[in-house]
Formats: sequence, C-alpha cells, structure tokens
Amino acid sequence: MDKLVIEGGRVLSGKVRISGAKNACLPILAAALMTEEACLIKNVPDLKDISTMIDILSELGRDVSRKGDEVEISSGSVKNVTAPYDMVSTMRASIAVLGPLLARYGEAKVSFPGGCVIGPRPIDLHLKGLRALGADITIEEGYIVARAGKLKGKRIYLGGHFGSSVLATANTLMGAALAEGDTIIEDAACEPEVVDLVNFLNAMGADITGGGTPTIRVSGVKILKGAEYSVVPDRIEAGTYMIAAIATGGRLFLENAEAKHNLALIDKLEECGGVITETSGGMDVSRRGRAIHPTDVTTLTYPGFPTDLQAQTMSLVTICDGISVITEKIYPERFIHISELNRMGAEIFLEGSTAIVHGVKKLSGAPVMASDLRASAALVLAGLIAEGCTEVSRIYHLDRGYEHIEDKLSAVGASIKRVSE
Ligand code: EPZ
Repeated sequence: MDKLVIEGGRVLSGKVRISGAKNACLPILAAALMTEEACLIKNVPDLKDISTMIDILSELGRDVSRKGDEVEISSGSVKNVTAPYDMVSTMRASIAVLGPLLARYGEAKVSFPGGCVIGPRPIDLHLKGLRALGADITIEEGYIVARAGKLKGKRIYLGGHFGSSVLATANTLMGAALAEGDTIIEDAACEPEVVDLVNFLNAMGADITGGGTPTIRVSGVKILKGAEYSVVPDRIEAGTYMIAAIATGGRLFLENAEAKHNLALIDKLEECGGVITETSGGMDVSRRGRAIHPTDVTTLTYPGFPTDLQAQTMSLVTICDGISVITEKIYPERFIHISELNRMGAEIFLEGSTAIVHGVKKLSGAPVMASDLRASAALVLAGLIAEGCTEVSRIYHLDRGYEHIEDKLSAVGASIKRVSE
C-alpha cells in the first residue's frame, strides 16, 4: 500500500490544471448505456472510481477504451444487466447504472450498495423515483432487482430527509428520458454534476429542461443516439486547491476552475482571508495578510456549501485566529478526520453534527490515516501547513478522486512524495 510523505511549511505558487469532475463523469458514463451507438466522453479524469465504472460497463458487455483523457464506449448492446457486489461495494456511484439499464433494457440487477465510512447512505429516493415511473423493484439476496415493461412519465416529488439527492435525481431523470410521456421531478438536485448529465442526455437526443433548478421536466423520447461530450471541471478538486493556496499563504492559478460552481466556498474563504479573482481561463487564489480568520460553515445541498469540501475547510481553520463552527447537514457522521487532525495538534470538539474548531498557532506533522476520499484530502492539506513531516497512509482513497495529486502539488512547490509501505 502507498503512503504520502509531506514536509510541511512550503508556500505553494504556480498553476494547477483542474481535471474533469469525477462526480459528473460517473453518471455520464453510465448514461452511455442508454444508446447502442458509440459515445465519446472527453476531459475524463484518470481516477480509480472512473476505472471502476469502466470495468462495470465492460462487465455489462460494452466495449470501452480509454486514450488519455478520452473514453470511447463503442457501439453495441449490453450482454447482461447485473452490476455485481465486488464492483458496487468499492464504489457506491455504481448505482448510477440502475436507471439506464432499466430504461433501455427493461431490467436491472444492481448490488445494494450499503453504508460507508461517511455514514448511512440510503437509496430510498432512487427506488421512489424509478417506482414512480412504473418499475417493479424488489431486494433479493443483496441485489436491487428492477423490472419494467415500458417506464411511464409521472410528476414525482423527490425530496428526502436531507434535501435533494444527486444520484437519485440522476437515476430518475435517466429513467424518464426514455419513458413514455412527460415527467416532472420536483425537489431535484441542482448540483452542476446534474446539469452536466442533463446536457449530455440532451446531446444524445433527450428532451430535458430545468437542469440546475429544483424542477426538471423530461419529455420521454423513443431512442437516444451516440454523442461526443466534454465533462465539466471538478469543483471539489478546484476547491481543495483553493484551500491549499490560502492555507500555505501562497498563490495558485487554477486553470479551468469555474468560480460560479464554488460561490459558497468562495464566500467563506474570503471571510477567512482569501483573495479570489475569476479570470477567463480559471481562478487566481491567494491570501490577504498573514492571519487566517475564523468562519462558520453549514453544509447544504447546492448552491449551499458542499459536504465534499467540509473536511478540507476544517483543516484550513485549524490554524485560524479564533473559533470556527462547522455543521454537517448532509452526512451528520462525516467527521472521521477530526481525530487525525487532533493528532497533529488541532483542537477540534464534536457536538452532535457540529465541530467546534479552536484555532491553534501551528500544526505538527504526524503519521495519520486516511479514512475516506475528502478526509484524505483534508489530511494532505494539514500536512502542507504543519511543521515537520506528515505521513498519510491508506491513500487509495485519494486515488479514487484526486488526479495525480502529488504531481500537481509538487509542481507548485510542495514537498510531497508517494512511497510504498
Ligand atoms: C453525491 O453522492 C456525490 N457522489 C458525493 O460525493 C456527495 O458527497 C453527495 O452527492 C452530496 O453532495 C457522486 O456524485 C458520485 P446524495 P450521492 O444522494 O448522490 C440522502 C465524494 O466524496 N439520501 O446527494 O450518493 C443522503 O444520505 C462523494 O466524491 C437519502 O436520504 O449523495 C444524504 O444525506 C461522497 N436517500 C443526502 O441525501 C437516498 O435515496 C444527499 O446524498 C439518497 C440520498
């Protein structure tokens, strides 16, 4: 297993190219199952989760090849409709094949994904959306078994206990795209990744409006055709490098980053002392003055503050000049990083789903253990600002979602290397 060894205290400066968004790309690759024509997806990041989705498409019988940042799904039909446990258990987003298989082939068998380290991850809204379209769904031997003659359009309210759901919206709208008649999804997720999926489906010939708003309207079409599509830049990767620039007191130009997708983060980072300028080709990020100021953050669905940047923001405010308060409203248990940050000298207390962060003068490098993707990124950021050496182990989590992170950080002045344990 690999680990990252980081010598902290370097000021980052230079340009980082932001990759295509993992969370946009995964449902887009799944959507390619909805046509038998070839699709070419561009700006695809080189990540473990993407290889897992490519493996699933291959397992289902599609011929998929990758060249650089392009993935081609050749013309052809699926040979079976089962996404097996060993694949789904490594990546929950595999559930995104449920809607496409059901819509195109009238049946799907996808392993039930279960919980994960960031807390329970129910799938009731996925099932609600597809059942509303007429699917008959049962849980058998750990699998979601779905069947439908022809899905039928419907008005569906898709809000849940924690608001809207990104992948449940994706599954429902993929089902609706090939359904008979019109569908209206109310309380749909508004995340840029949903908008990207809508744009891809429309490029395939779907008839969908309202992507990016809580009301998505879908007029079902009979068939979808192949399409060529370039994935939106990754707002979570961009946000992580924005925090790296401010935390180290450096200056980074984030090529391709879209400021409009990170307004909630920008608002909070400016409160902390960040200076963020949007330019035509990306974003310029630096820090005003020496101190990092405290802030309060509550994670919410888009356009609120993203849960996927909560841990990284916590690393930043460990060294602020005051007390910060961070409340998690999407995954109330997503706080495993706190104990590792405290091992590095942070002073963070958890009260329910709110973390109270007392800023300290400095962090001190230590061996720490990554527990999930974004928590791992938070530990890398903490390593960059800490005095001394930090060793982050179990970095396979990072490889699921950050393309070549050690290369990108080294190129802008970080002392970070990957070593085999
Ligand atoms: C997506 O997961 C992202 N993954 C997650 O990113 C991200 O944290 C999450 O959205 C929230 O922004 C992908 O896009 C591949 P949700 P998703 O359904 O769609 C509850 C990362 O680090 N809920 O929007 O699975 C759920 O428990 C990952 O890259 C239900 O109650 O998340 C949560 O509280 C981790 N019932 C809230 O909704 C359901 O059926 C939002 O989750 C589904 C979800």
